[in-house]
Amino acid sequence: MDPYKPLVTYDNHEEVIKIARYAPHSGLVLRLNVPNTGSIVELSSKFGAFPGEAVDLIAFAHNNNLVVEGLSFHVGSQCTNPKNYSQALQLAAGVFSEAKMRGFDLKLLDIGGGFPAHYDDTVPPFRRVAKMINAELDRLFPQPIEILAEPGRFLVASAATAIAQIIGKAVRGGKLCYYLNDGVYHTYSGVIFDHTQYHIKSFKKGPTQICSVFGPTCDALDTISLAEQLPDVEMGDLLYSENIGAYSAASSTSFNGFPPAKVVHVNQ
Ligand SMILES: Cc1ncc(COP(=O)(O)O)c(C=O)c1O
Repeated sequence: MDPYKPLVTYDNHEEVIKIARYAPHSGLVLRLNVPNTGSIVELSSKFGAFPGEAVDLIAFAHNNNLVVEGLSFHVGSQCTNPKNYSQALQLAAGVFSEAKMRGFDLKLLDIGGGFPAHYDDTVPPFRRVAKMINAELDRLFPQPIEILAEPGRFLVASAATAIAQIIGKAVRGGKLCYYLNDGVYHTYSGVIFDHTQYHIKSFKKGPTQICSVFGPTCDALDTISLAEQLPDVEMGDLLYSENIGAYSAASSTSFNGFPPAKVVHVNQ
């Protein structure tokens, strides 16, 4: 097999045929398309079989000597709507029982990621969501099955703080504007790709006003925020954003010749 040829097709049946050909001994997990309502990053339009076609696909895989061991789903990243999980679990339970009726014993459920990072107090505490997920798992899957999860941002968002220096200051239309040596082409790339608005803080205290905060590049898109409550600070001062460990440095670029921010590990 050509290692550079991706094993991707846009038809689920073709996909099964390719797997049967190139990875005949693999155990499969079928991803379901589930509601992503209200999640900050939508992950269901691009991936996942519709629940109504799932068991036919499991049968098709079986007819191609492959075993579908279970199901997976992703409710969308930064999911603050717990109903997405309950609906996804119900859809998965329906597929489990239809599969059983047709002779296929699924034994694994991967509930994906989406667990919300605590960016601010508008985000419901994860322990409340977790309690509901556990109760629904107990209710809908009484038989012993393997349950997996793939949390991403919930584990890493709080692991990093971005610290940037003010390299420009202006008053535009009466509004105080700060220009930083980091922006949306760099650590703040999550503003664009991850649809996340990070809160920007100052180490200095004092009366605050609504300010704009821009990145260093020539592009007007390089706007971190048009509404941050900040004090009147000076060129060379530092501003910072907490909870920026997920989907940030990973999508940083060197656009305009500005290198990505230096990552410093601090062990406490
Ligand atoms: C398949 C899969 N699993 C897990 C994750 C992690 O998601 P999150 O950061 O929302 O927990 C992603 C993120 O895109 C994903 O695509």
